[in-house]
Amino acid sequence: MNRRELLASLAVALPVGSTKAASRTLQAAPAVLPVAGQERLAVWAYGGQVPGPVLRQRQGTLLDLELLNQLPDATTIHWHGLRLPNAMDGVPGLTQAPVAPGERFGYRFSLPDAGTFWYHPHLSAPEQLERGLAGVLIVEETQPPQTDAEAIWLLDDWRLDPNGRIAEDFLNFHDVSHAGRLGQQLTVNGQLGTKINLQTGQRLRLRLINAANARIFALALPGLSAWLIARDGMPTHTVQAWDDVLLLGPGMRADVMVDAQQAGDFVLVDRFGRITHTLAQLHIRGASQSAVRPAPSALPPNPVPSPDLANAQRHRLVLGGGMMNRFGWPAEFASEREARRTRRQAGERLADPVWTLNGHAHMSHTASHHPEFSVSRGQSLHLTLENRTNWWHPMHLHGHHFQVLSRNGQLLGERPWRDTVLLTPNDTVEIAFVADNPGRWLIHCHVLEHHAGGLGTMFEVQA
Ligand code: C2O
Ligand code: CU
Ligand code: CU
Repeated sequence: MNRRELLASLAVALPVGSTKAASRTLQAAPAVLPVAGQERLAVWAYGGQVPGPVLRQRQGTLLDLELLNQLPDATTIHWHGLRLPNAMDGVPGLTQAPVAPGERFGYRFSLPDAGTFWYHPHLSAPEQLERGLAGVLIVEETQPPQTDAEAIWLLDDWRLDPNGRIAEDFLNFHDVSHAGRLGQQLTVNGQLGTKINLQTGQRLRLRLINAANARIFALALPGLSAWLIARDGMPTHTVQAWDDVLLLGPGMRADVMVDAQQAGDFVLVDRFGRITHTLAQLHIRGASQSAVRPAPSALPPNPVPSPDLANAQRHRLVLGGGMMNRFGWPAEFASEREARRTRRQAGERLADPVWTLNGHAHMSHTASHHPEFSVSRGQSLHLTLENRTNWWHPMHLHGHHFQVLSRNGQLLGERPWRDTVLLTPNDTVEIAFVADNPGRWLIHCHVLEHHAGGLGTMFEVQA
């Protein structure tokens, strides 16, 4: 690192305390770092670290940051969960041109919502995220709730080859057509054996982010009392006890308050698969037992408009394809696969079409594509997502947050706000939101290999 680069990487690591916009540079570059249990892992990093620096700003302030691309490939930054202007959304070929190696791009937008968000590339995402490009963006409430400690735990997994390097089998047919790319090494903030020390009586605000390409976490914190206060950056309407497993699909976040009521060692575990993984340890010292604290109060809601269901425009999005499906693949997939084989042999990293949305595989989202539907600004939308596949899909919406209305015909009492909703095999979920943000927006599966294999589409909100 030269001096300028060092200063730039330090600058992004500092919190922005004032409401004044601070212009910062965030460099994306290859690095060799102790990550995923390896002493020296060749990664791609934001600001020289994996995960990237935590960006922290107050609600209502301006994020002003310049990406400097020092990677060998073009890239973009997508600000996941942010309600921002379309031109800042980071989708190459749709909202901006790819940022070529050596080039810069300025991201500048205000932050209307407080919560836990994250940033990642939206170009060659299956490869670029897996190589380490992801970071957390925290937008603080104007009056943050009382806590004694905070932890930001970005969850990920890494597929390493027998030499301890990142396996370069990106977009292989098996991953794309099954559950996506799963890695054998599970990490918290890129590390194994994460541990936090607390005192009895303390309350911890824990921000959990699933940055894995494909892994779904089923999280539990046995023995500790904890409360869910926000999901996907949006406060829950009422505070709920976290006493069950918490399903966190790729892209999803949860904010939790954890009460350190008794001394001892506790663990955050993942129980999604047959094997229970220990992700992190909470070591609590002090008096053996402390008084039970009342539930935290709900966070102030973010200024998201509620959809007008009576006058909402309705659309259906049917998810199809994948291995072991009853309906088969469209006939044109065979010839498309053949064409892609040739391009792959010429060195391009490409997925095969495997998934469909309303009967079509959407392999890219360039401006030449037609929107799935187009509405005028302010229109309420009611979308029915029908998963006719045998796989799980975290469906993610850009530029807006939606309310989940129902799952398999069962109405949800609270209508939680989300930017990503996890569909289990054969699930049908209804969501609704106000399309108040002009531009062309994606809705796609956040299993990055599924999206690359066609599972996503684009709609338009007219200005
Ligand atoms: Cu987190 Cu379209 O992305
Ligand atoms: Cu997003
Ligand atoms: Cu999927």
